[in-house]
Amino acid sequence: MAVPREQFLSPVWRDGIFENKVLFCTGGAGTICSMQVRAFVALGGNACIIGRNPEKTERGAADIALVRPGAKVIGLVADVRDVKALEDAANRCVKELGSLDFAIAGAAGNFLAPMAQLSSNAFKTVMDIDAVGSYNTAKAVLPHLVKSAQKHKNTGAAQPTGTGGRIIFVSASFHFTGKPLQAHVAAAKAAVDQISHAVGIEYGPYGITSNIITPGPIANTEGMARLSKADPESQKKFAKKIPVGRYGQVKEIADATVYLFAETGSYVNANTLVVDGGQWRVTGAA
Ligand code: HXC
Repeated sequence: MAVPREQFLSPVWRDGIFENKVLFCTGGAGTICSMQVRAFVALGGNACIIGRNPEKTERGAADIALVRPGAKVIGLVADVRDVKALEDAANRCVKELGSLDFAIAGAAGNFLAPMAQLSSNAFKTVMDIDAVGSYNTAKAVLPHLVKSAQKHKNTGAAQPTGTGGRIIFVSASFHFTGKPLQAHVAAAKAAVDQISHAVGIEYGPYGITSNIITPGPIANTEGMARLSKADPESQKKFAKKIPVGRYGQVKEIADATVYLFAETGSYVNANTLVVDGGQWRVTGAA
């Protein structure tokens, strides 16, 4: 289904900035990641999205492709817990779309559970999807990102818009403070953050930047549906506690993504961009 552009991208960005570039995104059919990919594709890029569910992934890719005539978006099935499947997907992305210049490690699994009801296997499952899955994604894409970054490395100037070699990890803020019912995800996202920092530091010399986007409470997302109280009264009360007084929009995550991938983000590395209206500082975590 075509999504109106104003729902996933601010009008400040210039068309064509990601022309001839390719984005690889795990969890790319999800509510937040699909908008990040849409923004990239609307601005001239092509994309490969990875998911576990074949129908959802294929439909997601076809929907994203509607944002720009001529856009190429492919959906590939892989479980991020399987590094070989991700490496195969990354190679196929390069074969079908010509390169792999940008990446988003966005696949995640979550549910609310008190520790008393969280089995060791449940904890491990979320660690495997979120933490190991993000590590596997980095392993699969980094050789390709290095190739892309080397094309522009050490020119002395800020890397121009469209320069590849950038990766974003989608994280959360639970571990900034501590959060009940989220021992598994807080532990996993803390690991994700450290993986991103390590990539930024180890691969910075190759021209790679690695950053984290930490979404706060973003309206109409699967994460919020799973984690927040559904009744409108509780939601209104919660929104009032957020310093900016409202939930975020997926577009605000997509704009942050474009900022980090475009020339605007060329000197931002091994860091975290928290897009939450200031929420975690006052209420602890989404
Ligand atoms: C307690 C649970 C549980 C629950 C599953 N388990 N759901 N335990 N409460 N609600 C336990 C199971 O009993 C099992 O343990 C273990 O977890 C593994 O479950 P499986 O179903 O076998 O695993 P799997 O099929 O791989 O599914 C993984 C999943 C599932 C994480 C459990 O929910 C999933 O696939 N989610 C993907 C989509 C998703 O979660 N999207 C939301 C991302 S949003 P036992 O001991 O019985 O074997 C997000 C946003 C965060 O992360 C930030 C927001 C601000």
